[in-house]
Amino acid sequence: MRATLFGTGYVGLVTGTCLAEVGHDIVCVDVDAGKIAKLNDGVIPIYEPGLQPMVQANHAAGRLRFTTDAAEGISHGEIVFIAVGTPPDGDGDADLRYVVEVARTIGAHITRPTVVVNKSTVPVGTADRVRAVIADELQKRGVDVAFDVVSNPEFLKEGDAVNDCMRPDRIIVGSDSPTAVERLKRLYGPFNRNHERILVMDVRSAELTKYAANAMLATKISFMNEIANVAECVGADVEMVRQGIGSDPRIGWHFIYPGAGYGGSCFPKDVRALSRTAFKCEYRTELLDAVEAVNERQKSHLFELIVRHYGDVEALRGKTFAVWGLAFKPNTDDMREASSRRLLEQLWRAGARVRAFDPEARETTEAIYRDREDFVLCEHANEALEGADALAVVTEWKQFRSPDFSRLRGTLADAAIFDGRNLYHPAEVEAAGIAYYGIGRGRSL
Ligand code: UGA
Repeated sequence: MRATLFGTGYVGLVTGTCLAEVGHDIVCVDVDAGKIAKLNDGVIPIYEPGLQPMVQANHAAGRLRFTTDAAEGISHGEIVFIAVGTPPDGDGDADLRYVVEVARTIGAHITRPTVVVNKSTVPVGTADRVRAVIADELQKRGVDVAFDVVSNPEFLKEGDAVNDCMRPDRIIVGSDSPTAVERLKRLYGPFNRNHERILVMDVRSAELTKYAANAMLATKISFMNEIANVAECVGADVEMVRQGIGSDPRIGWHFIYPGAGYGGSCFPKDVRALSRTAFKCEYRTELLDAVEAVNERQKSHLFELIVRHYGDVEALRGKTFAVWGLAFKPNTDDMREASSRRLLEQLWRAGARVRAFDPEARETTEAIYRDREDFVLCEHANEALEGADALAVVTEWKQFRSPDFSRLRGTLADAAIFDGRNLYHPAEVEAAGIAYYGIGRGRSL
């Protein structure tokens, strides 16, 4: 089938590439000419495991093309996806500017019946708005073209996006049009093997499903972080508690890892946006608001542990901290709402210096913290330790999992590790003569 995607960010690029991979004929459109030129040269603008070779192979096979020409894109696709960003605006609402712009462009160019599919994460009611914008444009042109607007939210995770897209748990199709549903079923047929993954529902339920999924996952994390803080108070080890509850299948093992707080471009934004949507229809989301408040507090927790170790904030002046991991999670270079940013800024405010290392987030970090004389971005994990007084681990990249603790003992002047992702066994670190602080590990108090 022929499909067009507007937006070559994580969602648009990964979806377009996976659709091409199963044999569809795909055109990706973006207003950013630099990005499109790079993509046509086989260079992808993000770090996402497995994506680059897939883009290159499908591009070479002629099934995946990139253009800035919106009219060309629209004349190509019998299905046109909107997969542009919805960044938060100043009030915590999702900013729909780009979605509306694409809807306008679609209305200005379609000449034959088209299924418009919204893949961007958008508040409930956006499909109606997109429909109205397209209808308005058609009216201005004085033409009558049939079109449907479908909600088809995306559930891919950064760092595992290709896998999520090729092997989806479920494919949500929100539409009341049998023709549109039929077309999407054909498009997604190759991903729908072995058992039925396509779930058809009304548009608003589909839009809400996306927010509910992210809000539920964020809730699990904040809940676990709250339990971790209680564990710290009462002298329990949350890692034991995690294993104790995860084995109950009703609770499950996923997303119950306590840590330095959740970040990224989705959870923080989506929890806030859902709360705002509810507020607009006069419902106060007390649970979601608490999820966000707990996360905000949790992002400062690693710094609080550091202050606790040194006695007071003043004692941090002139100290040097090695920081391992900057990206909001492993296998990405994404620094959006990363917990590391809170820690770095708190350390700098306290007069400390930072030597940091992240396997992938070098450029994205430099784009935020340029030319700071109290910050060194290192090439290797060990280089970050040179001249450091203590180590803080913020992102759980695999390569940080088993360091040589006796070497760390010799390197870190104050012999202390602040483990923001509970990567290490306290006893093992302490046996090497290093003070250990984890999240929710009462033993370490
Ligand atoms: C999230 C969802 O997991 C995807 O299903 C969704 O499609 C995506 O948002 C989206 O809306 O586009 P993502 O933001 O890539 O995906 O990252 P996650 O892997 O969900 O991690 C989010 C944050 O939670 C990270 O900072 C991670 O470190 C933290 N986390 C995760 C924890 O602190 N504890 C956990 O147990 C799990």
